[in-house]
Amino acid sequence: MPDRAPLASGPPVPRAPTENDLSEQNQAASTPAPSGGPAAGTTGFRPAFVAAVPLGTIAEELGVALPAGSWNAGVTGISLNSRTVEPGDLYMALPGASRHGADFARQAVDAGAVAVVTDDAGARQLAMSGDLAVPVLVVGTPRTAVGPLAALIYRSQPADGAFPTLLGVTGTNGKTTTTYFINSLLRALGKTPGLIGTIEILAGAEPIPSLLTTPESTDVHALLALMRERGLEAASMEVSSHAVSFHRVDGVVFDVVGFTNLTQDHLDLHGSMEEYFRTKAELFTAGRARQAVVTVDDAWGRQLAAEAGIPVTTLATNGPDAIADWAVAAVAARGLGADFELRSRDGRVIRLHTGLPGDFNVANAALAAIMVLATGVEADTLQAALDEHDPFTVAVPGRMQLISNAPASVVDFAHNPDALARALEAVRSPEPGSKVIVVFGATGQRDQGKRPTMGAIAARLADVVIVSDDDPHDEDAAAIRADVLAGAYAARDAEKLGCEILEAYPRDAAIRQAVDTATARDTILVAGRGHEVWQEVKGVNLALDDRVELRAALAAKGFSVSTDHRIES
Ligand SMILES: Nc1ncnc2c1ncn2[C@@H]1O[C@H](COP(=O)(O)OP(=O)(O)O)[C@@H](O)[C@H]1O
Ligand SMILES: [Mg+2]
Repeated sequence: MPDRAPLASGPPVPRAPTENDLSEQNQAASTPAPSGGPAAGTTGFRPAFVAAVPLGTIAEELGVALPAGSWNAGVTGISLNSRTVEPGDLYMALPGASRHGADFARQAVDAGAVAVVTDDAGARQLAMSGDLAVPVLVVGTPRTAVGPLAALIYRSQPADGAFPTLLGVTGTNGKTTTTYFINSLLRALGKTPGLIGTIEILAGAEPIPSLLTTPESTDVHALLALMRERGLEAASMEVSSHAVSFHRVDGVVFDVVGFTNLTQDHLDLHGSMEEYFRTKAELFTAGRARQAVVTVDDAWGRQLAAEAGIPVTTLATNGPDAIADWAVAAVAARGLGADFELRSRDGRVIRLHTGLPGDFNVANAALAAIMVLATGVEADTLQAALDEHDPFTVAVPGRMQLISNAPASVVDFAHNPDALARALEAVRSPEPGSKVIVVFGATGQRDQGKRPTMGAIAARLADVVIVSDDDPHDEDAAAIRADVLAGAYAARDAEKLGCEILEAYPRDAAIRQAVDTATARDTILVAGRGHEVWQEVKGVNLALDDRVELRAALAAKGFSVSTDHRIES
């Protein structure tokens, strides 16, 4: 599922820009940073100490000559963005969609850049605007040099192997959840793991809010070095196809790369499924990853497993006849979650549990377990950690996040028709007489066609449908609700459904209404916003966190709220 993206990116509160917005870093360099938040690259990512690399070594790496006397200039960082340059940095002046990074070279040098790397166009531009006080290194495509140079400068994965074991997760859905599951399992095994993902970055100290699914390659290498410096033993990282296309993981070597699934998504960028597949498949090659775990439930997974240029462990999660190295079996519902087994082709059995609702979380947990197994952990050790710590019952921020058990109440990110349907199916309790109450809305200004569809899905799969607001953006919130309600009423009437349909706003009032309607046997799903903490209404960002509102409403009614097993680094 693509990450939600705001239409407006203005003050007062920073919202994550889309991947496309920041596809070229120089575009970001030419626009002001969102006020109050970190820039696209922040100094918080960097290790405290970097031993200087001589500029001569960098020139050798690039295969270019240096002006006399500059061989020994010490490089201690690298930046694509003049605003994040620190003294000692190499400034990478790349061509951007609207401006060339060379336009900002002077600011970069003023900020302490010791040299500039650019292309022919950038060099011509610099020559016209007069002498820069630092050497300019000219290469054909500086873009492709960024990752390897960052690896060299930060020594993120040095030859001595003293860096965190790196597990990457890619696929259309389930990346965030699987990276948190891996984090939780590593912790259960007694390790100190880091995490790089859509929501936040965990590298041993305070979580760093994340602006992109995968940060720029300069930040990725700096982060890996920071984790190494802080003694982290392993890290899981979300790798979107955008990250691969935009060179954000260049120069990164994954110990294990995992594949969840591939469904119709992101075709705007990748043109076709085949191309989308090719982009993802690039990760599964020597030089980028040492080994892979591939979920082979869909045809793309099977193709990937067949074509990968590295050793592959296959995993099947959706059928008794599946042919794979490991297969999910004996799935039995327990509460909203499930007990299940992983059985290997050679007869080994691992027993697992996840408290998170949804078949897809069984798949995510299975992938996390097999990826960790692939790092060399013994099966017995893994089993003991699973039995003792129940690591897959963990709060993944806004992803099927359990807020209370009775009523079972869940906050999920599902914000399109498919995801809403999956989430509603996942939370239906087998207990007779229990109701599903859903609170959701549609976002303004985009994809208007999905509003009645979402209304109809809710009417079919829930007993009480409470239509409220999501991010209306500049649109009239009442008009958006009316579109969703129309779909819900139409489905109820045409299909003679027994659901109750209500309208409630603002969203916190809708959440309170859901709790007022619920008994301890029921299930409440608050869908669409997940971990988001700001609601955008006509250019103003209002503080709103579904989890906070739901906890407060439950507590006010005397229901007990689950302790939040939040992951901390
Ligand atoms: N393996 C999966 N297959 C399909 N849907 C999933 C899967 N895992 C999670 N989901 C659904 O997609 C939403 C996003 O999940 P997330 O883990 O954030 O994936 P991603 O990071 O790939 O977008 C969840 O809220 C859930 O509704
Ligand atoms: Mg994600």
